[in-house]
Amino acid sequence: MKLLISNKEIKSAIKLFANTLNSQYENKEVIIIAILKGAVLFLQHLHEHLDFKNKIEYVDISSYKGNKRGEIKSLPFEINIQNQNILIIDDICDTGNTLSYITDFINKNNPKSVRTSVLLRKKIHNCIFIPDDYLFSIPNKFVVGFGLDFDEKYRFLKEIYTLD
Ligand code: IMP
Ligand code: MG
Repeated sequence: MKLLISNKEIKSAIKLFANTLNSQYENKEVIIIAILKGAVLFLQHLHEHLDFKNKIEYVDISSYKGNKRGEIKSLPFEINIQNQNILIIDDICDTGNTLSYITDFINKNNPKSVRTSVLLRKKIHNCIFIPDDYLFSIPNKFVVGFGLDFDEKYRFLKEIYTLD
């Protein structure tokens, strides 16, 4: 494994990003939707710095088997979206299928606003969705750590590594 992003870099990027969100959502209430399981660590660190009122919801959507892309699998979700400010949080945007899937659902349910924010964006040619915010842009390699796993391993790592 090779170190790609240090814990210090991740944490300072998250803190800066939290400030951006704090200005955008000042005096507003937001529903934060985190995509399990990868987004949990990102959400935890981000949440420490957020000043605005929020509710947290989790949705379970997955597509990878090991380090191979597969079909989207989603558990049903019941979240009241109508006229709400929605902030979707994920660990990484790769093909964009996951974010495209969840934003389609959200947009069908008349939100007040929608924002998609990920810690990492993989640079691939055929991605179908570009998130509003990504804290780091990374090469097209499989990465682990800070919530990202390979068959449930390595999520706990405090830094982000490439698997090779
Ligand atoms: P997408 O739907 O292809 O954009 O992939 C997004 C989901 O796949 C993320 O929520 C991650 O769970 C997973 N994923 C994509 N790339 C990686 C990776 O490099 N390491 C670990 N998980 C990944
Ligand atoms: Mg995921």
